[in-house]
Amino acid sequence: MSQLVLVTGGAGFIGTHLVHKLLAAGLRVRVLDNLSPQIHGEDARLRYVPPAGSEFVYGDVTCRSDVERALEQVNTVVHLAAETGTGQSMYEIERYYRVNVQATALIFDVLSNQQDRRVGNFVLASSRSVYGEGAYHCGSCAARRYPLPRQQAQLARHDWEPRCEACTGALEALPTREDDRLQPASVYAATKLAQEELVRVAAPAAGMAHAVLRFQNVYGEGQSLANPYTGILSIFSTRIRLGLSLPIFEDGQETRDFVHVDDVANAVLAAVINPQTAGVTVNVGSGRATSIMAIAQLLARLMGARVPPHVCHAYRVGDIRHNFADLSALEASFGVTPRVSLELGLRRFADWVATQPIPEDQLDKANEELRKRNLAG
Ligand SMILES: NC(=O)c1ccc[n+]([C@@H]2O[C@H](COP(=O)([O-])OP(=O)(O)OC[C@H]3O[C@@H](n4cnc5c(N)ncnc54)[C@H](O)[C@@H]3O)[C@@H](O)[C@H]2O)c1
Repeated sequence: MSQLVLVTGGAGFIGTHLVHKLLAAGLRVRVLDNLSPQIHGEDARLRYVPPAGSEFVYGDVTCRSDVERALEQVNTVVHLAAETGTGQSMYEIERYYRVNVQATALIFDVLSNQQDRRVGNFVLASSRSVYGEGAYHCGSCAARRYPLPRQQAQLARHDWEPRCEACTGALEALPTREDDRLQPASVYAATKLAQEELVRVAAPAAGMAHAVLRFQNVYGEGQSLANPYTGILSIFSTRIRLGLSLPIFEDGQETRDFVHVDDVANAVLAAVINPQTAGVTVNVGSGRATSIMAIAQLLARLMGARVPPHVCHAYRVGDIRHNFADLSALEASFGVTPRVSLELGLRRFADWVATQPIPEDQLDKANEELRKRNLAG
């Protein structure tokens, strides 16, 4: 019989794409998900239909009996379930820690005490956020640099670019490698790094292969349009459909590495099919830096926006300025390279959005929550 793969958070954005790929590859799939209302909306339990051929366990990764039930007979775990809002993590700290870190500890606790344990491979969805700013080059020092998180005072001056910590010189962003310095700049990022450390210690101790995959900014069909705390393209698409302006933070020249969900699901599938006995940590991205203004303009064009994006100079504490992935380790470990171009991926996203009900725009509410706590300006 083919191996049984447990996907925690498998009803979510990346999880749904992954489950279809695992089933198509002939694997058996079980999903553990609590259909979190923040992500899926209210009454999701009544509406949710698991992909044909998969098994669904409605449960919470923070609940021991749910985790025990979900792990029965499982051969591989893909751990995706998480709270994912960077800004929200700065004031819902205990919840983010419990769901992201405590639950990962619980999964390993259950595995370590499981009679007849079959899990031989553990795959974790981590995040580029563990790097904070990531790697830069300082022309004056001729050195690789890792600038500290930008402080509120700097952001309040609208002084957006990080500077060399040694000579305060200008910096140029470099593709970030897995062995670059880790400097989480938000509670969310700190929880992802804590998850990673748990996996790197607990998986080999239990004799499991493991892969830690650091996703860049994942976008595509099926991403939550309801969650106002994450997913910049969801937020933009809703505002475009409502005829509202797209307020671009900072000066719009901050960059991210946008990777289509199809490429991410292929990378996770490769990590499931090729267990890494010695363990690996790899970036998963497109390897390209795109400015927020550029992606907003592209989406606005594809969706026929009535109002062009505009720079509003607002900011959020904990946001990084630039980060894009070096993908050589991904290619070396799994032979995977991203295939979906930004233009094609955004077109697919825009076409899918057009088939969805228009959600309420909650951007102002999410930003107000941050401003009240002095976490945005
Ligand atoms: N989407 C991105 O851009 C991105 C980037 C970096 C890392 N990641 C990581 O990838 C993983 C998946 O992200 P996603 O974008 O698919 O998120 P998502 O919010 O769409 O999906 C997460 C899923 O986890 C479930 N979940 C949340 N709390 C749970 C709990 N306590 N018990 C059981 N299920 C729970 C949710 O109901 C949801 O279905 C996360 O670990 C996230 O940190 C995502």
